[in-house]
Amino acid sequence: MEHSNRPILLAVTGASGAIYSLKFMEILRDLGQEVHLIVSEAGKLVLRLEVEEGGYQAMIQMAYRVYRPDDLAAVPASGSSRWQAMVILPCTMGTLASIAHGFSQNLIHRAADCFLKEHRPLVLVPRETPLNRTHLRNMLLAQEAGALIYPAMPGFYSRPKDIDEMASLFVGKLIEFIGFRVDGLRVWDGKIDR
Ligand SMILES: Cc1cc2nc3c(=O)[nH]c(=O)nc-3n(C[C@H](O)[C@H](O)[C@H](O)COP(=O)(O)O)c2cc1C
Repeated sequence: MEHSNRPILLAVTGASGAIYSLKFMEILRDLGQEVHLIVSEAGKLVLRLEVEEGGYQAMIQMAYRVYRPDDLAAVPASGSSRWQAMVILPCTMGTLASIAHGFSQNLIHRAADCFLKEHRPLVLVPRETPLNRTHLRNMLLAQEAGALIYPAMPGFYSRPKDIDEMASLFVGKLIEFIGFRVDGLRVWDGKIDR
């Protein structure tokens, strides 16, 4: 993905993994990147549960703009709005299903639909376990429609010390995936005891 100076649209839905969205905003803030934020109603519940009110408020503070998920007239609802990428982190099976089947019931679904129709980068970070056949089919449908599926499956080969480091590594790689350079991200050097 090519880097541009356009803003990033981050949507947070009600799947487990709120720490990822908080880290995502922190790293992009440190890179001086503008991030616009939409949090679904279920996303607010899970954020407050997993990163507490302080983490949720920190995200609101870091966002350049925050849109209500029921505001279907907001800027991201139009295909003419310009962005570097939209990232849904984490993405519930419900939001995945709405995107895969084109149901624009809230601003997150509608914005994702616009990204697909305009052939702009849309990255879904689905989180659920185990996956049923509908989940798997919907991931394939979304991918066939143009979405990039980047599952919340962190690697352990760089031996993260704690959850914080694990989340930072996972999110750092995601941010590189959408076109940024993240300093300090350990790149696999091929060195292993054989
Ligand atoms: C604590 C908690 C954790 C949840 N974790 C997940 C999850 O990991 N994946 C998922 O698909 N749904 C999960 N859900 C269910 C979704 O939040 C629910 O389906 C919701 O309607 C999704 O709405 P949204 O996609 O608009 O955020 C969780 C719900 C709660 C309360």
